[in-house]
Amino acid sequence: MTMSAEQSYVLEDSGVLRFPEGFVWGAATAAYQIEGAAREDGRGPSIWDTFSRTSGKVHAGHTGDVACDHYHRYPDDVRLMGDLGLHAYRFSISWPRIQPDGSGPANPRGLDFYDRLVDELHGTGITPIVTLYHWDLPQTLEDRGGWTNRETAERFAEYAAIVHARLGDRVETWTTLNEPWCSAFLGYASGIHAPGRSEPGLGFAATHHLLLGHGLAVKALRAGGASRIGITLNLAPVLGDDGEAASIVDGLQNRIFLDPVLRGKYPADVVERAGRFTDWSFVEDGDLEIIGQPVDLLGVNYYHPQTVAARTGEPANPVYPGSEGIAFPRPDAPRTAMGWPVQPSGLTDLLVRLSRDYPGTPLIITENGAAFDDVVEDGRIHDAGRLSYLDGHLRAAHAAIEAGADLRGYLVWSLLDNFEWAEGYGKRFGVVHVDYATQNRTPKDSALWYRDVVRRNGL
Ligand code: FCB
Repeated sequence: MTMSAEQSYVLEDSGVLRFPEGFVWGAATAAYQIEGAAREDGRGPSIWDTFSRTSGKVHAGHTGDVACDHYHRYPDDVRLMGDLGLHAYRFSISWPRIQPDGSGPANPRGLDFYDRLVDELHGTGITPIVTLYHWDLPQTLEDRGGWTNRETAERFAEYAAIVHARLGDRVETWTTLNEPWCSAFLGYASGIHAPGRSEPGLGFAATHHLLLGHGLAVKALRAGGASRIGITLNLAPVLGDDGEAASIVDGLQNRIFLDPVLRGKYPADVVERAGRFTDWSFVEDGDLEIIGQPVDLLGVNYYHPQTVAARTGEPANPVYPGSEGIAFPRPDAPRTAMGWPVQPSGLTDLLVRLSRDYPGTPLIITENGAAFDDVVEDGRIHDAGRLSYLDGHLRAAHAAIEAGADLRGYLVWSLLDNFEWAEGYGKRFGVVHVDYATQNRTPKDSALWYRDVVRRNGL
């Protein structure tokens, strides 16, 4: 659909904050969350197909079978992005479309889909940003141990090379993994996400093999001629009065990924504390050189900070193995429909810290956004809560740039309402509303506002 001028969201005049010239504005999605067409054109099953069919794992038994039907509706969705004036679109490639069982020759029909999508984007003047892995591991690889098995890292690099060989002439910016913390600690340590395993030690093995997969994929992409390669991490400042508790959670959330990728070593305190869950024997000679190869950008996904406090007797939070004695109190802040606190200053702190502690790596916000319980009224969605969340976080990002952070762009999560993993379709993150019964798309007020932000390169 197209938008008419009177639909424009009028900003109150609150002074103009301009972003640097060339700042990249866009939106992000992920394959399993929007594509649907789960059994079409030779796609194989992924761990999310299996997990979403496992009773009790996903809200209301929802699956990604149909999702937003983007696989068939991508031309309309790209047109919508064009109407919003987006510069860039971050999407992920479904590994099981490319290699239905995770290895061997490519499925040409899977590659064809992304080929068409990339051409459609270029035809609309939108720059594609590709994420190679957004959690949909081919089930066959999981049956052999998934990310707890070193072999998966090698298969991932082969898959990366296949995709690059087909799209590399038209895609400049590549990110290897999306949020390996979630894959490792939600997927293997706590069972909240696919594949639903819950052993603390496996979380660390998965972390290492994901990072090794990243490093091997960076090598493969560079060998193919790619010049802008990064990784996307979900990072969160850790707040609280107790320095030790904050440092433990910071280690498990942030430094366990940042340090190997950007400094070529695991943080010693994290290695030591995890010693009762793993002997780290999966780390082989040379791995950290592979993992720590230079990257050209760091993708930052930010939603909210973590607040911690020391509390005797508190059991460990399974997503942070070894966190007993640490409580996660609810800060006094407004909340989104996910229950996540709205604390934009955390984004400023995070970006400034990254540029200070890990200098020399340009940053791009690859995800930021919020779920709210939207109401459709006369065909409009007045999503004031989301709009205010985005406005606050853009102001926070701007403040970080002024304080010296090397931030190059912002990609809102998400373009469309979509399959929100364990929350199914119950949580809506889109700036564009999706009516799942009809697949109609309706830009929410936040989308119309965002279009104006993009147009004026500021607030
Ligand atoms: C991130 C995921 C993304 C989406 C948002 C809300 O952790 O990368 O797919 O689910 O959270």
